[in-house]
Amino acid sequence: MPTDNPTSERIGHLEGVAATLRAARELDGTDRLAHLRRQFHLPAGRQGRRIYLCGHSLGLQPRGVAAIIAEVLDDWRSLAVSAHFDANRPWFSYHEEVAEGLAELAGAGRSEVVAMNSLTVNLHLMMASFYRPEGKRRRILIEAGAFPSDRYAVDSHIAWHGFEADAVRLDISPRNGEWALRSDDIIDTIERHADELALVLLPGVQYLSGQALDMAGIAEACRRHDIRFGLDLAHAIGNLPLQLHDWDVDFAVWCSYKYLNAGPGAVAGCFVHERWARADLSRLAGWWGQDKRRRFAMEPEFHAMPGAEGWQLSNPSILGLAPLIVSLALFRQAGIRQLHAKSRKLTGFLEQLITAWLIEEIEIITPQARGCQLSLRLRGGRQRARRVFEALAEGDIMADWREPDIIRLAPVPLYNRFQDIYRAVDVLRRAVDTTRR
Ligand SMILES: Cc1ncc(COP(=O)(O)O)c(C=O)c1O
Repeated sequence: MPTDNPTSERIGHLEGVAATLRAARELDGTDRLAHLRRQFHLPAGRQGRRIYLCGHSLGLQPRGVAAIIAEVLDDWRSLAVSAHFDANRPWFSYHEEVAEGLAELAGAGRSEVVAMNSLTVNLHLMMASFYRPEGKRRRILIEAGAFPSDRYAVDSHIAWHGFEADAVRLDISPRNGEWALRSDDIIDTIERHADELALVLLPGVQYLSGQALDMAGIAEACRRHDIRFGLDLAHAIGNLPLQLHDWDVDFAVWCSYKYLNAGPGAVAGCFVHERWARADLSRLAGWWGQDKRRRFAMEPEFHAMPGAEGWQLSNPSILGLAPLIVSLALFRQAGIRQLHAKSRKLTGFLEQLITAWLIEEIEIITPQARGCQLSLRLRGGRQRARRVFEALAEGDIMADWREPDIIRLAPVPLYNRFQDIYRAVDVLRRAVDTTRR
């Protein structure tokens, strides 16, 4: 059993399978956020509903999405171009509808966030402004195991400035035999390379291991040495409470289709710290970043909107933004701190069951500093892990697989129940049994 566990909570003493199921039902019975599950479409399985543990990849569809999409289609049909100003939610300012909700999740002021583009596009825009190599200060610190898109973006910016990516990128990895980066190692690397570093780019939550990084501590080290600090929050936003403004992060980017449940390819998000709101930063500009009072004056000179909105390029996809309005309303109804409190219990329960029933067979590589995701490695090699993963799917448990041999499970407090966890681990246990050497 886990002992000193700062991020998850243990659920009493579990004796045997029947008692565990009883405990799970009781927890669902007293869960004050349980009603939110009814706000989502749950995917169908072979026997009833599937247990969906893939919110880290694509969040479920909120039930209100069809109506808001229909509203956009109605406005387009009946108002056509005048919907930009005359619709109930005018398209001209449609992105402003999500600013408050995103600001709450990011721990930011309204003008520090904007919904636009996709994550990787936003990362490029941010790096165009915040990666300004000068003299010896040209290096970018990134994890060796960063999500590939981030690495491609970093390498392409380095090359764009005429440097050799392998010489300029500074990779950081967990120590040999470990899965998580140690905070001390990150800070130490920043300190040792401070006079060479132009940018530090790290995730809030690591996509493979599920580790939550010490964003505040890293931001502080960067600030001390006047190094720009950017975050990829794909796996953190809507998963953990964030305080981007107070932590003094320079910029952050995220997508909206994972924990924000806004649908495949939904409009992504971006944070720029207030201190850059009016700074004369070089940027890649477009007309939607132009001061909105003069946007339709069609002037040749560009005057950026103050704040994150000044990085907008184009008028946003209204159909891509609409589901985010519905999803953020659910977050506001629940509150990210309450959701996080439930998340700690749910993921703690998952950890507790795996540890109690399967510790000989499964290694949990996710450290205690984490969001809702647990990443598992099965002892006995890749082939066996693959068979277990397939057995999970056959048992209506939707997890995901990441090479080389990692199964990721993410209980999401908006729509997962304690009984889901019980059922998932029960199926996992049987799958592990049938593949025993
Ligand atoms: C951590 C992380 N970063 C970046 C991306 C790329 O996102 P996009 O395709 O929206 O640019 C993903 C996508 O899953 C991701 O998980």
